Amino acid sequence: MNDTTSTRRILVTSALPYANGPIHIGHLVEYIQTDIWVRFQKSRGHECYYLCADDAHGTPIMLRAEQDGISPEQLIERIWQEHRADFAGFLIEFDNYYSTHSPECRHYAELIYRRLDAAGHISRRVITQAYDPEKQMFLPDRFIKGECPRCGTPDQYGDSCENCGATYSPTDLKNPRSVVSGATPITKESLHFFFKLADFETMLKDWIASGPIQSQMANKLNEWFTAGLQEWDISRDAPYWGFEIPDAPGKYFYVWLDAPIGYMASFQNFCDRTGLSFDDFWNPDSTAEVYHFIGKDIAYFHILFWPAELTGAGFRKPTAVNCHGFLTVDGQKMSKSRGTFIKARTYLQHLRPEYLRYYFATKLNDGIDDLDLNFEDFLQRVNSDLVGKLVNIASRCAGFITRRFAGRLADTLAEPALYADFVAAGDAIAEAYEGRAFGRAMREIMVLADRANQYIDEKKPWMLAKRADAGDEVQAVCSMGLNLFRVLTIYLKPVLPGVAAQVEQFLQIPPLRWSDLPNPLLGHAIAEFKPLMQRIEMAQIAAMVEDSKENYPAAEKTVATPRGPLADDPIGSTITIEDFAKVDLRVARIAKAEAVAGADKLVRLELDLGGETRQVFAGIKSAYAPEELQDRLTVMVANLAPRKMRFGVSEGMVLAAGGDGGIYLLAPDSGAEPGMRVK
Ligand code: MSP
Ligand code: ZN
Repeated sequence: MNDTTSTRRILVTSALPYANGPIHIGHLVEYIQTDIWVRFQKSRGHECYYLCADDAHGTPIMLRAEQDGISPEQLIERIWQEHRADFAGFLIEFDNYYSTHSPECRHYAELIYRRLDAAGHISRRVITQAYDPEKQMFLPDRFIKGECPRCGTPDQYGDSCENCGATYSPTDLKNPRSVVSGATPITKESLHFFFKLADFETMLKDWIASGPIQSQMANKLNEWFTAGLQEWDISRDAPYWGFEIPDAPGKYFYVWLDAPIGYMASFQNFCDRTGLSFDDFWNPDSTAEVYHFIGKDIAYFHILFWPAELTGAGFRKPTAVNCHGFLTVDGQKMSKSRGTFIKARTYLQHLRPEYLRYYFATKLNDGIDDLDLNFEDFLQRVNSDLVGKLVNIASRCAGFITRRFAGRLADTLAEPALYADFVAAGDAIAEAYEGRAFGRAMREIMVLADRANQYIDEKKPWMLAKRADAGDEVQAVCSMGLNLFRVLTIYLKPVLPGVAAQVEQFLQIPPLRWSDLPNPLLGHAIAEFKPLMQRIEMAQIAAMVEDSKENYPAAEKTVATPRGPLADDPIGSTITIEDFAKVDLRVARIAKAEAVAGADKLVRLELDLGGETRQVFAGIKSAYAPEELQDRLTVMVANLAPRKMRFGVSEGMVLAAGGDGGIYLLAPDSGAEPGMRVK
């Protein structure tokens, strides 16, 4: 498969981003990783197509549109435009960017479903599920919140507790409520459709043994096999935003059924535009390669369900599923309050995309470990490698060629052996790119950049230039330097396509490809050198972080994504003034605050209510160190029934705004006294 002498036919995808929110720098890990890999394959002369689409169905998108007062079609159209612009801004170049809400996707979803059904891989049975009687819809687990049945922590999702890690079903929650309406969910029966995953166990085991996934993922998979392959619920009841299941009125395909099919839909749409044959790539006996790049969070769908569905429906399986880890910023989860939840758009308003492309490249490998964007390191890496090493080579040589030789490069290479070394290094660099060891590729390229600079340091063209008889030598040295620079540009082009385009303009050459390596540029006229890249200043990063700080506009937080944060406030439910009057809100002074051993998120507070002291466990550790809470005033619910928790009894609740990524403890204006009633 790594044979570079023959042309490979390669189809590559990145996961389809949900059409209910903007692209952020976390997403970009994946799209940049894939784009680099695709650009590398194209540079090597392979027939390679990069496909993607918006993942446009599902409950969160339906509710988000409703909340914005627009139709789901309008929402997904707007987001589709935004996503495309964001990707283009980061020089991520898809051959086709489509949508799962498309006729092609419907076609393949129905086709695959019908084939699976005909082969006996679909079962049907009635299940009981949580139902919102007010909103009249079934509630996904993540749309129900309540108290953990094990430790009593309030405000936990219907599937698991963030405090004690318990997993359970939403019916086990105490005091459950619908996140959509605030109503107490009831249970209701309904007929569901299931994909019989276990039918494919042997096939999946054989497939995995053939090596299409990373070893860490294979281990994970074995855990899933040991736990037993469950039937997968692929239907949802109306109201649902998606494709209706054929011959099943009121039943819809679950968003994850048609999401990966979106890969095929995007490709079909591309084939229709270009005349390529869909079957050549998707038939079971296809010799083309298919790669899916995904985050590790969605591996289950891609290495279990997807190959099983494809096999059951008579299509080929992916050649490989390439998982990557998650992005943290300065060592922590991206956070809106800290300003590290950086949208693609915001980044682009402050910094050049290639800085991030390069930085991610230095950090990426073929593993699934998380990677950290450390701002200090980011600035250093980019300034030292790209500006200090790479661009420096060209800027030290170009002026002499332009001023003294009318822009003309020498006719022969001054150091053919050095040039040959640079070209020979290409094999190892290509191997690293092929294996997604981008960090290694960048290191090897920078070793070469050091050597090129060393060469110029040794030859000192600026000294030579002072000698009356050194004319040809200056040209020879600078032409050599620029040829080494050109080789480095070929190597870095998958990562820095914009810089490469500037270099091509500067050198007055057609787009560089890997096959140009053996042929140096000689006796050729180049254009005047213009600066290729500026240094990053810390102030630019600081401004970007400042711009990314959010105060949770209500509209942002009310709609959930299946994995992301959920709003705490029930939408649309009202209470009477009498209801409100029942809540005894008091000003409290935090007399003592300390961490709770064994609970990552909790702080134990002793609250002084002006005489009386209460113990409260508050889930605010992610936002506040206990020391900084000492002696602060806040507001508490003083008449909440005491709750027994794993660590002790909690006798009330402090009030805070926010949720995912940011927590802001409420405080009264100065002058308020502990114990005062809040009205
Ligand atoms: N819609 C699904 C994918 C369907 S694929 C048939 C989805 N969308 S997503 O928008 O939530 O994520 C898109 C991709 O971005 C996923 O592969 C996900 O792992 C990746 N990332 C999202 N946040 C990320 C980080 N913070 N870091 C790295 N990758 C991240 O999942
Ligand atoms: Zn719990």
